[in-house]
Amino acid sequence: MSLAFNNNFKVGILGGGQLGRMLIQSGIDFNIPIIVLDPDAHAPCSSLAEFQHGKLTDYDTVMKFGEQCDIITIEIENVNITALKTLAKQGKKVFPQPEVIELIQDKRTQKRFYFDNGIPTADFILTENKKDVENNIDFLPAVNKLGKEGYDGRGVQILSSALDVRRAFDSPGILEKLIDFEKEISVIIARNEQGEVKTFPAVEMVFHPVQNLVEYLFAPANISTEIAEKAHAIAHKIITKLNMVGLLAVEMFVTKAGSILVNEIAPRPHNSGHHTIEANITSQYEQHLRAILNLPLGDTTLLAASAMVNILGEPGYEGLAKFEGMDEVMKLPGVHLHLYGKRFTKPFRKMGHVTLVDKDITRLKANTEFVRQILKVKA
Ligand SMILES: Nc1ncnc2c1ncn2[C@@H]1O[C@H](COP(=O)(O)OP(=O)(O)OP(=O)(O)O)[C@@H](O)[C@H]1O
Ligand SMILES: [Mg+2]
Repeated sequence: MSLAFNNNFKVGILGGGQLGRMLIQSGIDFNIPIIVLDPDAHAPCSSLAEFQHGKLTDYDTVMKFGEQCDIITIEIENVNITALKTLAKQGKKVFPQPEVIELIQDKRTQKRFYFDNGIPTADFILTENKKDVENNIDFLPAVNKLGKEGYDGRGVQILSSALDVRRAFDSPGILEKLIDFEKEISVIIARNEQGEVKTFPAVEMVFHPVQNLVEYLFAPANISTEIAEKAHAIAHKIITKLNMVGLLAVEMFVTKAGSILVNEIAPRPHNSGHHTIEANITSQYEQHLRAILNLPLGDTTLLAASAMVNILGEPGYEGLAKFEGMDEVMKLPGVHLHLYGKRFTKPFRKMGHVTLVDKDITRLKANTEFVRQILKVKA
């Protein structure tokens, strides 16, 4: 039975960005006290919950923080694993488990995990440095990725030909076959301590062509039932093999031949699940809380077609954020606005998102395009 509703029970979140912010919103409905740690004193969560200012990668800081919590979770993977392992040994619940976060922190161990467990993924070579990449030009065209600390497209680059090799990363990374995919999809899945598993319907992600970050997405993904079932089965296999508790986002490629390859996974609420707040019976944030609190998982049914557009800082502007086009956007049918409380914008910074829920798919697509054109963050 979950102890979550007893007095003095506290959930700690490592990271105080927008994912933490939306997790707090769900925590309020469950009346679960939440405490947040983040290195930025003005982080999106800083004024919404009990907040501590400190480095997520520092052992002593994470230990001191964790000792005040009953359950510790994350909204970012770059955290001190040794501290989390110690806290887990001391009897704290750490979900996702430190071993899972550790595996996922490094794209190299992720790839090895897929390979060892028969999970389909793009062919790859592990590279230690630039020299290794140079020695493998036969493998191009390929995607060169940093093992650690890449996110939102930073630490990912396409190497098309031998000429590009001079840009190769000179740190441990991977060289992965360039996939000529039909679509990128994401399946979010959750598992609680009792082993109950529930999957959200697959969504289709459209990435910014240069920045490599999610620009907008549609739910449900426009894929056949057969491909959807395959994708769900792969996500199920991954979360079960990891034996993990919490929410897991599985990013996949659907190839032109109709097969599925896993790109990467994230053991936490994810950008590709923002729309679930309004479009699904249970949001990904509530589901994450249910999973880590060992509550029965919620109904993931999608109530209507939906689109989510990230509100990104306009290139060329840096400073105090000014939003343009807000009134026009707010007039749209089925629109919901989420701003993350970031005062300052910079190019491609995630400042918020807009969700559209609309049974009329043609109108939904047209309005998604409208939001992308008209909503701008300048300074
Ligand atoms: N092997 C590949 N073939 C083709 N495109 C790829 C490949 N690997 C990555 N990409 C493209 O680059 C994007 C970013 O890659 P990846 O998800 O590994 O990086 P990331 O920086 O961790 O991403 P995120 O934006 O999810 O934080 C992918 O979503 C995809 O569009
Ligand atoms: Mg990714």
